[in-house]
Amino acid sequence: MQNKKIENNNQTSSRKLEHIKIALKKNMEFKITNQFENIKLIPKIDKKISYNNIDISTLFLNKKISAPIFISGMTGGHEKTFKINLDFANAAYELNIPMGLGSQRAMIEHKDLIYTYNVKKDYNIILLGNIGVAQLSKYNINQIKKMLEDVDADALCIHTNPAQEIVQPEGNLNFKNAFNNIKSIANNLNYKIIVKEVGNGISKEVAKELDSTNIYGIDTGGAGGTNWVAIELLRRSESDLNFIKEWGIPTAQSLIETKYAFNGFITATGGIRSGSDIVKALALGADACGIAMPILKSQRKGKNEIIKYLNTLIMQIKYEMKKLNCRNIEDLKLLKFNINNPLKTVLKQRHIDLNTFQSKRNKI
Ligand SMILES: Cc1cc2nc3c(=O)[nH]c(=O)nc-3n(C[C@H](O)[C@H](O)[C@H](O)COP(=O)(O)O)c2cc1C
Repeated sequence: MQNKKIENNNQTSSRKLEHIKIALKKNMEFKITNQFENIKLIPKIDKKISYNNIDISTLFLNKKISAPIFISGMTGGHEKTFKINLDFANAAYELNIPMGLGSQRAMIEHKDLIYTYNVKKDYNIILLGNIGVAQLSKYNINQIKKMLEDVDADALCIHTNPAQEIVQPEGNLNFKNAFNNIKSIANNLNYKIIVKEVGNGISKEVAKELDSTNIYGIDTGGAGGTNWVAIELLRRSESDLNFIKEWGIPTAQSLIETKYAFNGFITATGGIRSGSDIVKALALGADACGIAMPILKSQRKGKNEIIKYLNTLIMQIKYEMKKLNCRNIEDLKLLKFNINNPLKTVLKQRHIDLNTFQSKRNKI
């Protein structure tokens, strides 16, 4: 029994490293797109905006951040991941943006791995803790609280990843009490909670159900970027589940569905790759955008490359805003927009009333 436990603990830790290796080695992105290419923003009529006066600061967990972006949770839990998290934290600190941790399950199982997540010791940043929804059945509220306190987290992200768990050879398919567990933790844990997908997207039905809980926010985690099913398929000996590979709700669609049904804080993640994606997501009602894989790839080239990559995105956001004659993020949320096919048809089939969506989106 004891040996089996140690084996499982090591499995959690080494899986973390294996995921990073696979994610970096091959092109592990969806073939289907995030669908932001079908959103067309209509510029404001005001020609007097200068690039230097564009303000892209915003609030994240009620704290001011310098740009509407964050490093989405990726890692921790193996000695080799400490440096990666430190480099992410350094960039988050330099640019005054938040950073997420990868699943903290490994540090609950192995106390000596806490240090691999503990970046706030060196950098005073907004830090998002992380645990899988399936683990909420396994750990009690005091263990989750301790896990957040140990790294001085500012909020807890609960990732829900049924597609990944189905394909993962050692996946946990126990989602039976997922909703009740989220509800209970949101009622009893004194931390803001964000429920996040990891690339298959949150639907309006799920967003509506989550709206009835005390959670603080939703991260769409839509399709169009990193493809976790593809990553897990490479760890699987059979190709029996290949057909799930391109399954998921694209990020732009998931964002619209989530904004339609959920009244809290919303972030858009999943294939966010350009200033144009970010500006469109903000205009559609996102409070900020998360980015994962490109930041990991930059980190491999050196910690300054992360800052360089993110500064390029920031510059692109400002140029996009200049193009649209928007001085700040509030201006973006008032822009008119068109939605092209196939997204337009899909939203119609999903019974999303665009007039209702418009009025929800304009609420700042
Ligand atoms: C290497 C890697 C590890 C990740 N690990 C986690 C994790 O432990 N917990 C989690 O909630 N999301 C995890 N994610 C998912 C990301 O937070 C993000 O939702 C997803 O990758 C989509 O963003 P992207 O297309 O910009 O990569 C991971 C992503 C990558 C690339």
